[in-house]
Amino acid sequence: MLSEKLEKALNAQINAEFWSAYLYLSMSAYCAAEGYAGFANWYNVQFKEEQDHALILTNYVLSRGGKVSLAAIDSVKTSWGSLLETMEDTLKHERKVTAMLNELYAVAAEEKDFATANALQWFIDEQVEEEETAQSWIDKLKMVGKDGTGLYMIDNEVATRTYTQAAPLAGKLLK
Ligand code: FEO
Repeated sequence: MLSEKLEKALNAQINAEFWSAYLYLSMSAYCAAEGYAGFANWYNVQFKEEQDHALILTNYVLSRGGKVSLAAIDSVKTSWGSLLETMEDTLKHERKVTAMLNELYAVAAEEKDFATANALQWFIDEQVEEEETAQSWIDKLKMVGKDGTGLYMIDNEVATRTYTQAAPLAGKLLK
């Protein structure tokens, strides 16, 4: 059974993951409207991945006999000054998510709920990749600056990203 404190913290993380999905859907719409179809795709994949994260945690809370309490999702920013600004916001956001997960892991460890700590390990590992990927696109976008050909090439590169359902959702009822 989950402690009350951990159940509350896990529900807060579910909300944060849905907020992340909302943010990336907004970024995807912004990129699409600006004519960057590749980045619109990239953020759309990101949007789906964040929904997966929320569902993994939802399934986890249920598997421990906890109560899932879905709270309101706050509004998100709807426009950015450039692709670089969008990706910088992405990195900033992912760093915040990493800090939240570390805090959640600390609560689980403090409460000696090692099953939860173990379940959170997947998310913590995922964050390393999330931050690294955002940083690599920032580097490339900085490299090309306002050069149209460069931006066109990067947009084509991100267009190839495809969505794969997160492994922890395999065989689950909610996915
Ligand atoms: Fe669910 Fe991008 O962290």
